Amino acid sequence: MFGKCKFFCICFVIFNLAFHCFCLPAWSQNDNKFDSKAVEIGKKTVRIFMSRLVSALDTIMKNQGVAEALAQYEDKIAEITKSIKDEMNQEIGIKLLSPRYRDVKNSPDYYEEQAYKDFLEAWHGKGRCPPYVIQEIRRDGKVFYRYYEPLFITNMCLKCHGSLESLDLEAAKRIKQDHPNDNAVGYRLGDLRGFIRITIPQTYIAQ
Ligand code: HEC
Repeated sequence: MFGKCKFFCICFVIFNLAFHCFCLPAWSQNDNKFDSKAVEIGKKTVRIFMSRLVSALDTIMKNQGVAEALAQYEDKIAEITKSIKDEMNQEIGIKLLSPRYRDVKNSPDYYEEQAYKDFLEAWHGKGRCPPYVIQEIRRDGKVFYRYYEPLFITNMCLKCHGSLESLDLEAAKRIKQDHPNDNAVGYRLGDLRGFIRITIPQTYIAQ
């Protein structure tokens, strides 16, 4: 009787240790005060960036059409990123990325692939993603945090990432011309489209 109980207790402890070591840290809130501040700054930056991008694209699409919004997409991203750097910190970085990318510069590096894994495993396993993933990265003696959030397809994204047949003709032509190796069409409402990554220097957090 005692032997069985001891066996289950040991199994329980091993399971918990394994769960905390291998499953939780990638997206659990961290007690470290820098990490929680990084999460706060990451969340805020995503909110500002996405609302400015969506509103800029919406205005161009309404006034000049989807093809023109496609043509101005990269400039808008650069403009909004600059405005955020000027308002917050010059070393803040912003990147949109996806395993199914439209442009090869948005393909993942080693650390981004690690973050993907956490999101994709949860998405395919449970049908939902953790709200964010945070990483601490050391480069050239400096510490940076990388904060990631998943991006899902809304109605407006479908105008440029929906099925080929549903796209505006001019827009489809523009995508073919600018991105001949495009992988980023054929999505449906609610699909996981990709991720946004915010890079935050620790020096900014420590201020
Ligand atoms: C006006 C057209 C347009 C709309 C609307 C649009 N996108 Fe895109 N998206 C693009 C273009 C063009 C690129 C490639 C830009 C580049 O060269 O970096 C892109 C790239 C991306 C990427 C980077 C990975 C890749 O495919 O290269 C993500 C992630 C993304 N879009 C998500 C979204 C989401 C989420 C929405 C809706 C909220 C959205 N997009 C709406 C045109 C659009």
